[in-house]
Amino acid sequence: MKKKILRIKNLKSKRKLVCLTAYSKPISKILDKHCDIVLVGDSVATAFYGMKDTRDIDMQTMLNHAKSVKKSLKKSLLVFDMPYNTYRNIKEAKKNAKKVIRDVKCDSIKIENNGRNYNIIRALVKSGIPVMGHIGYTPQFKKKFKVQGSKKKEEKKLIDDAKMIERAGAFSIVLECITEKLASHITNSIKIPTIGIGSSNSCDGQILVTDDLLGLSGFHPKFVKKYVNLENIIERAIRKFKKDVRKSKFPKKENNY
Ligand code: KIV
Repeated sequence: MKKKILRIKNLKSKRKLVCLTAYSKPISKILDKHCDIVLVGDSVATAFYGMKDTRDIDMQTMLNHAKSVKKSLKKSLLVFDMPYNTYRNIKEAKKNAKKVIRDVKCDSIKIENNGRNYNIIRALVKSGIPVMGHIGYTPQFKKKFKVQGSKKKEEKKLIDDAKMIERAGAFSIVLECITEKLASHITNSIKIPTIGIGSSNSCDGQILVTDDLLGLSGFHPKFVKKYVNLENIIERAIRKFKKDVRKSKFPKKENNY
């Protein structure tokens, strides 16, 4: 197994994994100093492009963002989120995942679970591509947001999903918006790290959409802690620029050639 992947797996139960999304070089330059994993998430569709949902983003756009992110990533593990309809069967998944690894030179891909695509994970891992799983609220396959795992039947299905994904060879699993009790149960039932988003502290690591925690996306559900309100900070700077331009205070002599 690749060294960087093994390192992530070995951190389970030793310390929490720090994971965030990035869509560009300037952001990944900052994240690389602090994150174990950087994900080029298909959330770029909604958080960056203002699309209706994550199904709308295409492979080429994701590849462009990933290449930008890769430019300043030295240390963190780079994971590429496979867009919707790019891994519907083994042949399609292998072809697209191989292209991603070749073009981006990322470390791994992530695929969302649709309740039956374990054979795809197994085939990708067998062909040497490290895979991160994703269960719970999986936006590519669930139209409406709902916390997952609050019903007994749902709970059992999610536990089985996590075990099947581990068995298929994934090196970690994102748990999105599942109850604390279930997150704790799954984390204690499998040997690979669980990365929570909206799934409590009972996971081996945490991930958030960076634009959400920076207050840039306009999305603030209760599972997001807004660490700064960049929208306000940017607005203040732009207002100052506008004032300077209107009053002919910018550019000054020192800005001229
Ligand atoms: O697309 C994304 O950003 C994700 C994370 C929320 C896990 O899948």
